[in-house]
Amino acid sequence: MCGIIGYCGREIAAPIVFQGLKRVEYRGYDSAGIATLSDRSLLVKKGVGKLDEVNSQKGLDAIPGNIGIGHTRWATHGGVTEPNAHPHCDCSGEVAVIHNGIIENYQELREQLISNGHRIASETDTEVIPHLIEDEMKKGNSLKAAVLAIAPRLEGYYAFLAISSREPDKIVGARKGSPLAVGISDQGFFAASDALAFPDYVTELLPLDDHEMVVLTHHGAELFDAAGNRLQRDKRRLTSRWGEANKQGYRFFMLKEIMEQPRVVEDAAAQNKELFTDIALDILRAGQVIITACGTSRYAALVGRYLFSKVGRKFCDVVMASEFHYFADSVDKDTVVLAVSQSGETADVIEGVKEAKAAGAKIVSIINRPMSLLEDISNHVIYLNCGPELCVAATKSFLSQLVVFYLLSFSMINAFDKAVNNLKRISSEVSKTIDWNNDKIERLSHELKTKNDFYYIARGINFAIASEGALKAKEISYIHAEGMPAGELKHGTLALIEPLTPVAVICPDDYTYNETLSNAIEAKARGAYIVAISDRDNEIYDFWIEIPKVDELLYPLITVIPLQLLAYHLAVSRGYDPDRPRNLAKSVTVK
Ligand code: AGP
Ligand code: GLU
Repeated sequence: MCGIIGYCGREIAAPIVFQGLKRVEYRGYDSAGIATLSDRSLLVKKGVGKLDEVNSQKGLDAIPGNIGIGHTRWATHGGVTEPNAHPHCDCSGEVAVIHNGIIENYQELREQLISNGHRIASETDTEVIPHLIEDEMKKGNSLKAAVLAIAPRLEGYYAFLAISSREPDKIVGARKGSPLAVGISDQGFFAASDALAFPDYVTELLPLDDHEMVVLTHHGAELFDAAGNRLQRDKRRLTSRWGEANKQGYRFFMLKEIMEQPRVVEDAAAQNKELFTDIALDILRAGQVIITACGTSRYAALVGRYLFSKVGRKFCDVVMASEFHYFADSVDKDTVVLAVSQSGETADVIEGVKEAKAAGAKIVSIINRPMSLLEDISNHVIYLNCGPELCVAATKSFLSQLVVFYLLSFSMINAFDKAVNNLKRISSEVSKTIDWNNDKIERLSHELKTKNDFYYIARGINFAIASEGALKAKEISYIHAEGMPAGELKHGTLALIEPLTPVAVICPDDYTYNETLSNAIEAKARGAYIVAISDRDNEIYDFWIEIPKVDELLYPLITVIPLQLLAYHLAVSRGYDPDRPRNLAKSVTVK
């Protein structure tokens, strides 16, 4: 999950590395650091906090030298402390390493290093890497040879960059299972967790695969295989860019991204009809269809499952990506796997997809970020086209995923054009939902901000929206929240309802209205405070969030919006930063 970036060129490295880190900060933001090589010396600065905070305390961007590596951390091993922040060094202070991933056998390696006299300064798995390099370099190996020699000893997965004051003209990088992009420009050479982190003047990439390594010098970027043989690779043009996303006057990215949703619906609906028809035919012909995803993307998949069944008459299963491996025995060449991932690099999704692909399944990915790991291993790729989503909590990408599932389900009945037209009309309903409710929900958030338990219920196609509403509340407002099918409440959770416990009821005026309302009345009878998201008023509501009436298959695109706004306003009224919630990161690249 950490963001890493290295630069080697004519310019002063630290400011370039710092700007690159800003672009990968979505990957982790609990601590940060930069190391450079200057006058044959290794200089390291690091600290705890968000990147700007560490910079103002330590002056990360003011370190001299024109070779530099930088890291923004999402801790896996070892608490969030300064000694655990990257870069990590060897005993002699000559080697520095930044790392994204997990070295699974670090305890064993660490014990060996300690018994050989190494002094370990942190609790991280990462720190074994510079010490192992140190041992190799002491034997007379070059930095490149040292990295080649230690790579087979590292179990788990990694992308790391290493520098050494003994070889002050280069950065050596290696990857296995974690992304590492190599960028080329006239101003210098780059390696980073994400090509979109490179400055605009980087226009070419050198593709680097697992078990390969890169050496960046002032003269170029060279790739090598695991045996140290030089690899010749064609350069690829870096065609996609996010551009510099800014808040456009909004206080937080989350609010900006919620407000963009009317446009996002139209952009996500601008898809290639032939591609959708081909994929729909694959789905209809397949022996089985499995959708795999995590978090919010999985809730979109659950809505997709209803659409596939209701429109396309095709049953499919949704498997949580972190559990997919345990079902892998049932995957075969007659299986279509749809992988849904905003980032395209969620490790749990990638692992499951690789396994399914090896078993012969056809892979269709639904992705937002271009040039992702998932893109490379898919037979077909559908893009969400919703632009950079920088808030950790997904909002507009979720709406785009719903649009894609709607289009896919209608493609199964050869009605792609009809679906596009329906979606064009829904964009203004999304606007209305925001306009009618934003201020009202802000007031509600002040009323409810001291509540610590929320429940969300719905039925049918909206059930997953209840779960998504609860997830939003958990991740940014730090409220214990549960979303469930309304009919399930009485099977246990009802015991937790106390006087004035907030229960958000999603009850559009459709085929689920009467039954969902009955479940809400059951909760109210136990004292619950009913917040209803509905186009139909009822006296049992304590607070009515009115939504426009739409076609029943399109309600999820509308009903989720008040719940995004509720989580946002609750977070702000409780004094939290919704864009950078504690303990989380936007891309979850560890398993
Ligand atoms: C959503 O708000 C969360 N940040 C999280 O659940 C996210 O949806 C999940 O990690 C999956 O990410 P992906 O879509 O990039 O694969
Ligand atoms: N395992 C390393 C650490 O805890 C890197 C974590 C990551 O890549 O998310 O510092």
